Amino acid sequence: MAIHLAKPSIELLPSYLEAIQEGNFCNMALGFADDSLTEIVKDKDAYLYKINNPSSWKFKLPNGAEFSITDHELYWITDGKRFIGSLPLRYAGDVEFIENFCGHTGMAIRPSLLNKGYGVKALMHAFELGGAVAKSKGLKFILASCDQKNSASKRLIEHAGGKLFRSHDGFCGAEPNLIYQIFL
Ligand SMILES: CC(C)(COP(=O)(O)OP(=O)(O)OC[C@H]1O[C@@H](n2cnc3c(N)ncnc32)[C@H](O)[C@@H]1OP(=O)(O)O)[C@@H](O)C(=O)NCCC(=O)NCCS
Repeated sequence: MAIHLAKPSIELLPSYLEAIQEGNFCNMALGFADDSLTEIVKDKDAYLYKINNPSSWKFKLPNGAEFSITDHELYWITDGKRFIGSLPLRYAGDVEFIENFCGHTGMAIRPSLLNKGYGVKALMHAFELGGAVAKSKGLKFILASCDQKNSASKRLIEHAGGKLFRSHDGFCGAEPNLIYQIFL
């Protein structure tokens, strides 16, 4: 079935709730969408409002340094019926944070659908939609970061044409990271 990107919605929320019960799942959105099942069902509208809100978001690294993302969006990867994964896009914020830690984007596929080709399929849509918005905001390339041991993420970034931009042994107490540059 064809997949596309959609804004988080009440229609897809039941499938998202199933997905987060399948095992470890992180939206790769700097924690801002990772509420627990109990928290979400307490107020579904509040959760959807929060994760669709593009205003500034702060994130603290292990050494206490705090950084802001000032323009961001979260998309859900879907086949129209099921939540398949998450695709956060970060267009602007503290540059050293984006360049050394989180990059402009990330991707997470739900646990039951890992390693079935959905990540690669979602890339095309990420470029069409996220790439176009990023270009309109003046970005010439996007950065994607990955943990050195995360082979799936490395392969996915290579599929996207990513070229190594920077590597470091840790940033503000966070783990070593590889940061790739993907030209739009
Ligand atoms: C990274 C991630 C999004 C890839 O999505 P996916 O749908 O599982 O990946 P695909 O099935 O499209 O495969 C993409 C490539 O990764 C490889 N791959 C997938 N899972 C793998 C694994 N566990 N170990 C090694 N390689 C793996 C695939 O073989 C493929 O490479 P190939 O074309 O050379 O064979 C997914 O693993 C994930 O959600 N991980 C958890 C969150 C995360 O770490 N995100 C990355 C941070 S940006």
